[in-house]
Amino acid sequence: MILLNPGPVNVSERVRNALRQPDICHRESECSELLADIRHKLLKAFVPGEEDEYTAIVLTGSGTAAVEAALMSSIPMGKRAMVINNGVYGQRMSSMLMTHRLGTPDLKYDWGVVPDPETVDLALKQHPEVHTVAMVHHETTLGLINPVKDIAEIVDRHNRVFMVDSVSGLGGEALDIAGNKLYMVAGAAQKCIQGLPGAAFVLVRKGFMERVLKYPKRSWYLNLANYYEEQERGTIPFTPAVQVYYAFREALNELLEEGLDNRIQRFHGYATTIRTRFEEWGVKPVLAPALQGHTLTAFYLPEGCAYQRLHDELKQAGYVIYAGQGHLEEKIFRVANIGALTNQNIEGFLSAFQATLSGARA
Ligand SMILES: Cc1ncc(COP(=O)(O)O)c(C=O)c1O
Repeated sequence: MILLNPGPVNVSERVRNALRQPDICHRESECSELLADIRHKLLKAFVPGEEDEYTAIVLTGSGTAAVEAALMSSIPMGKRAMVINNGVYGQRMSSMLMTHRLGTPDLKYDWGVVPDPETVDLALKQHPEVHTVAMVHHETTLGLINPVKDIAEIVDRHNRVFMVDSVSGLGGEALDIAGNKLYMVAGAAQKCIQGLPGAAFVLVRKGFMERVLKYPKRSWYLNLANYYEEQERGTIPFTPAVQVYYAFREALNELLEEGLDNRIQRFHGYATTIRTRFEEWGVKPVLAPALQGHTLTAFYLPEGCAYQRLHDELKQAGYVIYAGQGHLEEKIFRVANIGALTNQNIEGFLSAFQATLSGARA
């Protein structure tokens, strides 16, 4: 089955085979070495040349675990966080803050609307209690790239902390973490990094991590300071998904061999092929090209083509697409183009899609 949902993705045989390493005890040196290697490779891949400025903290869990650990560990006593919310995943961070009663009203935008730095500037002037500003990098809801650089500048000018959810971006969409001095970036193995689900991570500026150690623990299990202190000692607080970590390391090896820029270009190529062909067939994207990333496209459902039928017929042909969410569930569908895919996979999908579309229009 070819997965065109935004993760988990198809992985290579090499990554799958990495699961078949010998069983190890997570309290033994083999596990410490595995963890150290993953942490080192994450820094090499995502903050090249600036590895000394950042630390990588690895968690067992899905991307949401990394996002929640980062966000909730970033807030000192008496302070709050604010979310720039323009999609499902911005909303999820807002809900986390609501659960802990540590939020301020979101800077809320309609889906597909790009946040403007002036409003962020004003909000930070009005809310001195806001310590952390959180935003999603690639908002998977519609495939929108948020303006990380512009917002980072404003947040920095106000001397606040910027936390970025790049769970669906890292490995597939460009993000200059070190250049923008991002404080915290959450990511996961099973999307553009082409690993398996169950491993997630947070990249943190080292100077900030030292401050985080003194902040109150907002969660017992997802406290980033705890993970950091243990991982610096070569240990790990809880039983990790060892075999998934083996696959994660192999996926990072593949990413480093392919090169991050080449990986981004490969996905870009797939997206361009899909978008060009869909345009010829009159299938319209939801976002203007300037707003789109290169890893997922949201399209309006063609006339007379209900999502379920489209999905089921394509699945029968061997391709999994993805539904829209919320108020757009009945109106749109999404096609991701990440994972260990080939041009033939994309061509195969396009042929299957064209056949389904012709059937619906007949
Ligand atoms: C931007 C973003 N953040 C967070 C998540 C949550 O990741 P997970 O499902 O691995 O918890 C996703 C999942 O699609 C996402 O796209």
